[in-house]
Amino acid sequence: MWFLLRISATTIDEAQTLVRALKGGALALPPSLLIREMRHIDLPYVMGNENAAYDYPWTLNIMRGSLNGADACDVLELEGRIIGHCVVKMILDEAHLLNLCVHPAQQGQGLGRLALDAALKKASQRSATVMFLEVRDSNQSARALYDSVGFNEIGVRRGYYPAPSGREDAVVMAKHLKI
Ligand SMILES: CC(C)(COP(=O)(O)OP(=O)(O)OC[C@H]1O[C@@H](n2cnc3c(N)ncnc32)[C@H](O)[C@@H]1OP(=O)(O)O)[C@@H](O)C(=O)NCCC(=O)NCCS
Repeated sequence: MWFLLRISATTIDEAQTLVRALKGGALALPPSLLIREMRHIDLPYVMGNENAAYDYPWTLNIMRGSLNGADACDVLELEGRIIGHCVVKMILDEAHLLNLCVHPAQQGQGLGRLALDAALKKASQRSATVMFLEVRDSNQSARALYDSVGFNEIGVRRGYYPAPSGREDAVVMAKHLKI
């Protein structure tokens, strides 16, 4: 079954007003955004975004494994173009955010926040009571986003990620969900 969330013009208007209020400046949000389940045919575009956004991207095999497995894989489609994706693994009543990605050319417009909100909502609808994630210690933009939606730091995995200087810590975060 397709998971389809159409962000209506009203929602975008509301989001735009909210972002303007938060930032105190004008910010053009897109007229239409679709968040829908990823399909195999999307993979070339998904991998294009993945490679553009991450220094250490997932391989096609890892992405395909998530899509073939039980993970919830969604794409963000903006005016017919796939500009981001989100992957969540469900384990009983736990949701694990494995990947959240917006193409660099589309970052900073509120799209990552909309994708995360949709993932949280979908996890709640599937009866998850908590969402976990890992984020690079140095990933300030992602950490600011997770902080702002109520994720709390619950631990650190030392040397979890590869990094130019060797290894980098992962900050483990969690957010309790309302069912
Ligand atoms: C993390 C990511 C998904 C955020 O998406 P985005 O569309 O750029 O984010 P948004 O425009 O929705 O911004 C949401 C919040 O993120 C934070 N943020 C975004 N860009 C930021 C920046 N350059 N510096 C600091 N904080 C930033 C802010 O808290 C922002 O809220 P605000 O606009 O109200 O201040 C995106 O930057 C990305 O794909 N990064 C590369 C992949 C990645 O690191 N994913 C996370 C893995 S854990």
